[in-house]
Amino acid sequence: MEARGHAVTRARFLGPVTIRSRAGRGSRLAPGRGAEFDALVTFDPRARLLDAIESRTRAELGGGPMRYFFAPGRINLVGAHLDYSGGDVMPMAIDRGICAGVRLRDDGRIRLHSVDQQPAVEVGLADVGARAELRWGWANYALGVWRGVAAASGAKIGFDAVFAGDVAMASGLSSSAALEVVTGVALDALLEAGIAREELARIAHRAENDFVGVRCGIMDPYASALGQPGKALWMRCQGPRWEHVPFDPAACEVLVMDTRKPRALAASGFNERVEQCAAARAFLCERVRVEQHLASYQPADLEAVAGEMDPVLYQRARHVVTEMGRIAAGAAALRAHDYAALGAQLDASHRSTANDYDVSCDELDAITDAARQCEGVFGARLTGAGFGGCAIALVAPGYEDRVAARVREVFRARFGVEPGFDLLRAGDGPGELSR
Ligand code: GLA
Repeated sequence: MEARGHAVTRARFLGPVTIRSRAGRGSRLAPGRGAEFDALVTFDPRARLLDAIESRTRAELGGGPMRYFFAPGRINLVGAHLDYSGGDVMPMAIDRGICAGVRLRDDGRIRLHSVDQQPAVEVGLADVGARAELRWGWANYALGVWRGVAAASGAKIGFDAVFAGDVAMASGLSSSAALEVVTGVALDALLEAGIAREELARIAHRAENDFVGVRCGIMDPYASALGQPGKALWMRCQGPRWEHVPFDPAACEVLVMDTRKPRALAASGFNERVEQCAAARAFLCERVRVEQHLASYQPADLEAVAGEMDPVLYQRARHVVTEMGRIAAGAAALRAHDYAALGAQLDASHRSTANDYDVSCDELDAITDAARQCEGVFGARLTGAGFGGCAIALVAPGYEDRVAARVREVFRARFGVEPGFDLLRAGDGPGELSR
């Protein structure tokens, strides 16, 4: 099934069979645009993922029954790089993520397959130590969660799992948190462990920090584990505490724009930012006052010592303390359903992450600039950690096709690369799927 004209569909992003019509979602159609989307066949793209999981189970794991689970990826609206500095964030779980077919085994072994990634891994429970192993690749995320669930539940039991996703890998939409959370939700259900979603988010975060060794903050696993249909998540990472805030798809669409630029420096660059923030806080503790978190300082605190501070650390800290103002304004705008005001905060957030935090790149700057020039765009920024991957634009319903066509033209002319486009919605939270 292929979309026609310039219709922005999942087809361009992930392959032709992932189209889901809006009519099928029961959403309101924008005036004058119904025909394009109505013409598409309605079916659930998750069925395709479950089919792929079933056939992999038959081919590699001897068939037999599985239970099926899903956890979403996320975008982050405002609050960029604030979670590990104790700030506030506002991500939104999306209608894409990772499905898993999972069952317990009683022979002390774990077998993990992915429809999208290599290698397949088989290990004995005793082989999984305190740290990830390079040879296990992507499967380390699932193994780290298994360790956490085993510790929380007291049940050290083997399992088979087959994963398949419709969130692009390594693009800034947090496929890793989706993989961790779907593993946690599945093991919790199969073991009847009764682990709360918040605890599963903590287990996923520890798996990534302590087992895999990526120093990311808590935003991504919380966004996935606490996702609710039609809602963004405002979260104060100190604590943490959170509140779900409605995001209205009839008033604002989220257009994701994939630069196709690999996020090659993401891991090293990310860890460097974590260290720079820690160093900036240490400086401010000594020169201004002691605070637990960099995000707790005010812009005036920073300005008072600006001349004495290492210029790079000053810039990193300036992003953090000013982004706290943008997340406050962005959350207020979303609560007031003022998508133009929210979009203005996305624009300002992008500028700050590019200029002060230095995690953007020419491709992300160009794609967001091109979007901002278009009628119907409320705002645009990079999503995820940056360093390449995807950006998002908030777009008034009815303008998506024109925006995508124009951005494609500008981007192609400048970089000779065909960008990807997709429309995202605030999706379901994690849970079991019926089959
Ligand atoms: C990555 C990390 C998150 C967060 C974002 C930037 O997605 O995993 O913890 O720091 O970058 O906001």
